[in-house]
Amino acid sequence: MRIAMIGTGYVGLVSGACFADFGHEVICVDKNVEKVETLRSGGIPIYEPGLDLLVQRNVREGRLSFTQDLTEAVRDADAVFIAVGTPSRRGDGFADLSYVYAAAKEIAEVMNGYTVIVTKSTVPVGTGDEVERIIRETRPDADFAVVSNPEFLREGAAIDDFKHPDRVVVGTDDERARTVMHDIYRPLFLNETPIVFTSRRTSELIKYAANSFLALKITFINEIADLCEAVGANVQEVARGVGLDNRIGGKFLNAGPGYGGSCFPKDTLALTRTAQEAGAPLRLIETVVDVNDARKRAMAKKIINACGGDVAGKTVAILGLTFKPNTDDMRDAPSLEIVPALQKAGAKVRAFDPAGTLEAERLLSNVEFVSGPYFCAEDADVLAIITEWNEFRALDLERIKSVMRTPNIVDLRNIYSPDEMAAAGFAYTSVGRPGNW
Ligand SMILES: NC(=O)c1ccc[n+]([C@@H]2O[C@H](COP(=O)([O-])OP(=O)(O)OC[C@H]3O[C@@H](n4cnc5c(N)ncnc54)[C@H](O)[C@@H]3O)[C@@H](O)[C@H]2O)c1
Repeated sequence: MRIAMIGTGYVGLVSGACFADFGHEVICVDKNVEKVETLRSGGIPIYEPGLDLLVQRNVREGRLSFTQDLTEAVRDADAVFIAVGTPSRRGDGFADLSYVYAAAKEIAEVMNGYTVIVTKSTVPVGTGDEVERIIRETRPDADFAVVSNPEFLREGAAIDDFKHPDRVVVGTDDERARTVMHDIYRPLFLNETPIVFTSRRTSELIKYAANSFLALKITFINEIADLCEAVGANVQEVARGVGLDNRIGGKFLNAGPGYGGSCFPKDTLALTRTAQEAGAPLRLIETVVDVNDARKRAMAKKIINACGGDVAGKTVAILGLTFKPNTDDMRDAPSLEIVPALQKAGAKVRAFDPAGTLEAERLLSNVEFVSGPYFCAEDADVLAIITEWNEFRALDLERIKSVMRTPNIVDLRNIYSPDEMAAAGFAYTSVGRPGNW
């Protein structure tokens, strides 16, 4: 199969490289000159474990290439995937579809012969209909089908998720398109991965419903964590006791500073807007959005409280800025709420992140970025762990204590145990567990 991938970001690049690895011929397109130049010169513009080797191998073997020229990629393609961004629209929180529609128009102008246009971007119900209308209007003569194929990969584990997904969802009523999609995902059919064929609208909704449910699960355990703090229970043990029930499952039950990232915040919000517009409001998800927003703000307060209610003139050391480990993605990361709130309260903030510093420098001001956890802790009045990178799980606590002004740790990911911290001589605050929060 010849595949064009429009948009070479976290989803487009991983999907393109994995499709090439399945044996297809893939051309990835991006408007961002710098990104394409980096890829063409053998670099990887994002941090994603294993992606460099996968890209290099498939480029070397002639199945994967990069261009800015959409025409070159689309002209001979059997399938054209749209993997451009769908951020929150300023003002109303609905998904901004301008990149998707612009891509659809560009594709329509140059496509040739029967072409399957596949929306991989996360798009609200009915977007496929509009993409189809745009293409039909631009090229009344064209032979094509518009398919929905939402992506469920997680940053940080993207390649494995793409190659071994829990399921693939394909939304189309077009028989020819179904055959093309079957051929594209053939290796997964052979693996007996569940492939859910459904209507386009249903497929579009599945993606939002899945993300909203996961966001709901996180928000649920976060509220239970607050209750644990109020009544003297342990949220990790509650989560284990609850999650062992197979009907519930133990995943996504880690209490923390609130969900962030490139998907959950914008997708939950967009779904609530779609539902309101459709006259079937999702009050549960509306509440999840509100609770999560408030939680991120409350985390700064938690750090301030750990410093006796005042951080004016104090140094707060932050470990981890990205929204989760193993990515450089800073979109809607809790740190983006927490750091400015600490600064507003008069704190001096020093931070270390293993992969997110470059991006964080663009988004946060007046932060001293340093190159390791021990530099970060130097003379700090409190050390706050916001993202649970593996390298923060086994810190040399003696060393940390010896460089800090006050041995005070706030662990927003519960990666240490209160007993261990007490034994090491730290004041320790965590989320939803007995101890001194
Ligand atoms: N990041 C994730 O973990 C993830 C997971 C599942 C689904 N999604 C969804 O996938 C979509 C893409 O997300 P992402 O994180 O990869 O975004 P991203 O911002 O990393 O990448 C999008 C890319 O598209 C390019 N682009 C925009 N318009 C273009 C055009 N007309 N032609 C060529 N290139 C164009 C941009 O330059 C950018 O490089 C979103 O809808 C998102 O919700 C993301």
